[in-house]
Amino acid sequence: MTKILITGANGQLGTELRNLLDERGAAYDAFDSKDMDITDKQAVDAKFDALKPAVVYHCAAYTAVDKAEDEGKQVNWQVNEDGTRNVATAAKRVGAKLVYISTDYVFDGTNPGEYQVDDPTNPKNEYGKAKLAVGPSRRRRMTTTSSGRPGSLASTARTLFTPCCGWQRIMTS
Ligand SMILES: NC(=O)c1ccc[n+]([C@@H]2O[C@H](COP(=O)([O-])OP(=O)(O)OC[C@H]3O[C@@H](n4cnc5c(N)ncnc54)[C@H](OP(=O)(O)O)[C@@H]3O)[C@@H](O)[C@H]2O)c1
Repeated sequence: MTKILITGANGQLGTELRNLLDERGAAYDAFDSKDMDITDKQAVDAKFDALKPAVVYHCAAYTAVDKAEDEGKQVNWQVNEDGTRNVATAAKRVGAKLVYISTDYVFDGTNPGEYQVDDPTNPKNEYGKAKLAVGPSRRRRMTTTSSGRPGSLASTARTLFTPCCGWQRIMTS
């Protein structure tokens, strides 16, 4: 059975994902920030080395978009850039596929139509900049099916089960 690890497991997306995995009787290891603080590289490495997951759903993030502009600026970068790098590095070391969820904040909002995954990025806020900062060269297109809108979170979680035909970006090891 595929070994699955979920970060940010008690957040909105992590919860949807756990519910779907539970419905299907799939086994997984799920961590919130108390169990595994992704900004703590040693803690992340220890969990990954012990569990050796095959697939990692990286749902942990600092998502206070407005606060990220001022009082939350530092933690935004610590979690969304440094923390994600810790997760990506550990995933690479153990040979795990990493599913990382992007955001429409990586775009500047000037496109008159819907954005496609390969459209040029131009984040206008700290949240979008931090989310984009983690190794653009490691991202590759999967599909264009997910909008990333809050209303589509459940369907987004469902698409994460089929990473070859579902989610818009995946960061590979
Ligand atoms: N929700 C949406 O509609 C939406 C849309 C587009 C993209 N996304 C993306 O989907 C991902 C998940 O979003 P979400 O809506 O599920 O966010 P969320 O509800 O805010 O959940 C984020 C989770 O990350 C955890 N976290 C924060 N700092 C952490 C740390 N240092 N170490 C470990 N865990 C930490 C939080 O745990 P604690 O509460 O314990 O701190 C929380 O459970 C994000 O990357 C976001 O950009 C979401």
